[in-house]
Amino acid sequence: MRLANKIAIITGAGSGIGHEAAKLFSREGAHVVVADRNADAAHAVAAEITATGGAAEAAIVDVSQEMALKAVIDGVAARHGRLDILVNNAGFGIAGTVVTTSEADWDALMAVNVKGVFFGCKHAIPIMTRQGGGVIVNTASAVAAVGITDRAAYVASKGAVAALTRAMAMDHVADGIRINCVAPGTIESPYFAQIFARSNDAPALRAALEARQAMNRLGQPVEIAKAMLYLASDDSSFSTGATLFADGGWTAR
Ligand SMILES: NC(=O)c1ccc[n+]([C@@H]2O[C@H](COP(=O)([O-])OP(=O)(O)OC[C@H]3O[C@@H](n4cnc5c(N)ncnc54)[C@H](O)[C@@H]3O)[C@@H](O)[C@H]2O)c1
Repeated sequence: MRLANKIAIITGAGSGIGHEAAKLFSREGAHVVVADRNADAAHAVAAEITATGGAAEAAIVDVSQEMALKAVIDGVAARHGRLDILVNNAGFGIAGTVVTTSEADWDALMAVNVKGVFFGCKHAIPIMTRQGGGVIVNTASAVAAVGITDRAAYVASKGAVAALTRAMAMDHVADGIRINCVAPGTIESPYFAQIFARSNDAPALRAALEARQAMNRLGQPVEIAKAMLYLASDDSSFSTGATLFADGGWTAR
């Protein structure tokens, strides 16, 4: 029970990596707020957790909407008396080089992947400071450290998440708040299931994606959830500002 009695908000917890983190954090004793803009998914994950004896609640929120995310964070802190853990995990990718990416698509992606992290931290940190500490885990990506083709906005957004994580860690180390990020390699979440479904040659695409990782396989969402658990728990008590790569060796090459 590494998160016994902890109050944790996980954004993007309706699917994939966030879904696995919500289940794992619950099994480790946390009360989990399953925050997602997809209401059906958020309610389904919260119900899945409570059906197995865990403690969870759904929160329907678009993390790009500052006041809506603030309301969720403030509401959780008011109802439970504290907020111990915030996982800023909601995010998505779009295809495109800088030449082919429209300004509207760039802004929409940055609004979620970067501003969503900014808003979450902006409104959780004062609560954590008042209560004497807390932990934040952001979801970056291995592409914060390596270039890939046709994902310019996404790569930029995840580089920003890693850099923002370091900056915030320095600003709030004296407040007892640890802020780290996880950098997944290519993970077989529903997001990639959609990409395979849209592909003209899914087996070839899968093989190419598998080959990026030194382990020559895709990662599983639960493998990232375990890295998040490490960063959210006292197991990582001497880490702040860190980027934990869980990428099958991709960036070590
Ligand atoms: N799958 C991968 O290979 C991979 C690799 C590196 C990083 N990541 C990152 O991991 C995170 C989770 O990705 P995943 O693969 O589990 O994706 P996913 O699509 O399976 O799940 C993402 C969840 O986030 C929610 N979401 C999206 N935008 C939101 C918003 N504005 N407000 C609230 N909720 C929102 C979606 O509804 C969905 O439930 C993302 O930040 C993604 O960029 C994924």
